[in-house]
Amino acid sequence: MKVELRDIYKSFGPVRASDGLRVTFESGRIYGLLGENGAGKTTLMKILAGFLSLEAGEILIAGRPVRIKSPAQALDQGIGMLQQDPFDFLPFTVLDNFLLGRNAGWRINRKKAKLWLKEQAEFLHFQLNPNALERSLSVGERQQIEIIGLLASGVKVLILDEPTTGISASQKSSLFAGLRLLAGQGNIIILVSHKLADIQDLCQQVIVLRQGRVAGEVQAPFDTDKLVQLMFGRLPEMQTGKKGGSGALVLELSNFCIEEQRICISNLSLSVRQGEVIGLAGTGGSGRRLFLQGCAGLRKIREGKIRLCGTDLTGQSYQRFRSLGTAYVPAARLEEGMIRGLNLTEHFLLTEEDPHFVIDWVKSGTRAASRIQAFNIIGTPETRVESLSGGNQQRTLLALLPDHPVLLLLEHPTRGLDIDSAKWVWDKLMTRCEQGTAILFISSDLDEIMEHSDLILVFSGSQISRLLKTEETNAQQLAEMIGGKGL
Ligand SMILES: Nc1ncnc2c1ncn2[C@@H]1O[C@H](COP(=O)(O)OP(=O)(O)OP(=O)(O)O)[C@@H](O)[C@H]1O
Ligand SMILES: [Mg+2]
Repeated sequence: MKVELRDIYKSFGPVRASDGLRVTFESGRIYGLLGENGAGKTTLMKILAGFLSLEAGEILIAGRPVRIKSPAQALDQGIGMLQQDPFDFLPFTVLDNFLLGRNAGWRINRKKAKLWLKEQAEFLHFQLNPNALERSLSVGERQQIEIIGLLASGVKVLILDEPTTGISASQKSSLFAGLRLLAGQGNIIILVSHKLADIQDLCQQVIVLRQGRVAGEVQAPFDTDKLVQLMFGRLPEMQTGKKGGSGALVLELSNFCIEEQRICISNLSLSVRQGEVIGLAGTGGSGRRLFLQGCAGLRKIREGKIRLCGTDLTGQSYQRFRSLGTAYVPAARLEEGMIRGLNLTEHFLLTEEDPHFVIDWVKSGTRAASRIQAFNIIGTPETRVESLSGGNQQRTLLALLPDHPVLLLLEHPTRGLDIDSAKWVWDKLMTRCEQGTAILFISSDLDEIMEHSDLILVFSGSQISRLLKTEETNAQQLAEMIGGKGL
């Protein structure tokens, strides 16, 4: 099988997202699609997968032109895409979510479907329980279900848009192992990513996009500097480390206990000071997210006390935490962080400190425009959040935060961001730290944790490490602790 995209054009208003792109994908190979935020990666892949129509150009499969006008037509051609954000129904079980995506042939026979699901999961070495509730799963596990769903639809060209953001190192290696198996069977795998290490690890060929055009194609083994140069047209500066945290107490946890299904964190005591950054390492399902949500009042704790700047907030709601200066940035951008269908102005309105009874749209539009500028978001006040590129959605989430939070709790703050944007985000976060904000963040990227944290907590199967000083540990030790060694 050979898939050719010829002279593809697609614009959104004045933005040329695909500007005459020409790319070929061959059977049994794993491709990487690289490019900075807004380069046009998702657009091109959505055109191939039928989520967007092309304005000009052709798609050829095995030398024959095909018309792909909808995701269903793409699936008929064997092309399926895993979107940048998981698309599933949280209140349902894994099996129901799987069945929902299938056609009638599957729906009649739950047993058969369950067996197939289990077999595929085993083949790919994914650990899935068909009866688990989707809600209880991590982003990584939800992704695995979606992949298996696409395979059940007969997909031979599997497109993955930023699949490794928000998943743990072990989930990533299991995903990659699965993808290699699929390529070995003759499938085409296309990985959209910002992570050069992932591309280097997995791909045989890389296509770099810049401003809607192909900036270059490179075969493995890859030279990192060359890829970065193709992406940005230059080499971006590297980050500098930080030192911080000696101010007043911001967050105090004493004998903190929180539990949810299989995860239980007990008897944790911790103090976080102004300007301090604490990185939370661990896998999905290790309790790090539950812990973070407990610190925000998003989940009730079972025992213990939480104090924020000296005020006892045990058992209080997120609203109360928020009014005292806590802000939480979730990983699932379009489900928990923003609202599909609403534009940027409307989002900024919703976060206003003291909302007025009558909305002044002109003023709100101006305010939105200034936030958009301050946070380098590529979009207008009228842009709906779901049409922003992934990186710009992340910037928007940050722009929606209050200006001077005392405590910032973030899940995967640079998920989906290119190197330049990730640096930009951390610069913004560090500015806040210098002004006294304390930060707790989850990341599956150990380098990110090592680089930005003053202190690190490692979560592994409901166990938590002691508070580690960053300068006294290293990524290797963290990886071992995540695996349960030396906790
Ligand atoms: N539905 C849309 N409406 C308006 N503009 C859009 C839409 N989809 C994409 N764009 C714009 O087209 C450009 C390319 O976006 P695209 O999502 O393809 O980028 P990307 O390379 O995937 O970026 P990222 O790494 O941030 O995910 C961006 O400027 C984006 O804002
Ligand atoms: Mg994208």
